[in-house]
Amino acid sequence: MAAQARRKLIAGNWKMNKTVPEALTLAREVKGMVAGVPAERVEVALAPPFVSLLAVAAELQGTEVKLAAQNCYWEASGAYTGEVSAPMLASAGCAYVIVGHSERRQYFGETDETVNKRARAVVGAGMTPILCVGETLEEREAGRTLEVVGRQVEGGLKGFQAAEVAGFVLAYEPVWAIGTGRTATSAQAQEVHRAIREQLARLYDQATANRVIIQYGGSVKPENAAELLKQPDVDGALVGGASLKAGDFAAIVKAGL
Ligand code: PGA
Repeated sequence: MAAQARRKLIAGNWKMNKTVPEALTLAREVKGMVAGVPAERVEVALAPPFVSLLAVAAELQGTEVKLAAQNCYWEASGAYTGEVSAPMLASAGCAYVIVGHSERRQYFGETDETVNKRARAVVGAGMTPILCVGETLEEREAGRTLEVVGRQVEGGLKGFQAAEVAGFVLAYEPVWAIGTGRTATSAQAQEVHRAIREQLARLYDQATANRVIIQYGGSVKPENAAELLKQPDVDGALVGGASLKAGDFAAIVKAGL
């Protein structure tokens, strides 16, 4: 029952790729290829680099494709050279903001605490966080996957009320599967997704847990998307590499139908 009620969300995380003209071309191609996909069943979002947000927003106007940012700072404004705030992203047309991506945790020192502050800012600006969690290979091999992911979920959601969390998107992205070509099996993904939903039911309640969209990310491709997306607790995909090719990304979107 719960699985049917949730829409799927397929988001393209372009990471640090594409100049502004290249981003426009890719957005235009994707827009054409996913036209007609009913957003109430499979919603599509694109997360270009900050500098391309406005151009891509204009390109997506009048479509059901949503705009996402890849990160934000938690203060609304002030002397924070180089940072971009949540209200700025909302004013640029973003519906979603990715927070706590493993590359941000790994290379830019983000912690559950700063991820939580960013998520708070995103919600405060009227957008939806896509909160990323996931274990490293070492942690998986030590049998610590559920403990690590559980701690990241709890830390990222700290202080949020059930009504807020119900609108969240979580993305389970095993670090060993990101950009490596090594995908979690659908059974491995489903196991962690179900554990996250059970944790949400314990932290909040079952109705809230049933509403949260839990995406899988990590080497999602047209060839493996359908199998992953048919798992009962896999509600979409956060796609990196394959989102840079319109045809591949559109095929993943259609695998969610
Ligand atoms: P990938 O990246 O699809 O290239 O593995 C996924 C992500 O980091 O969101």
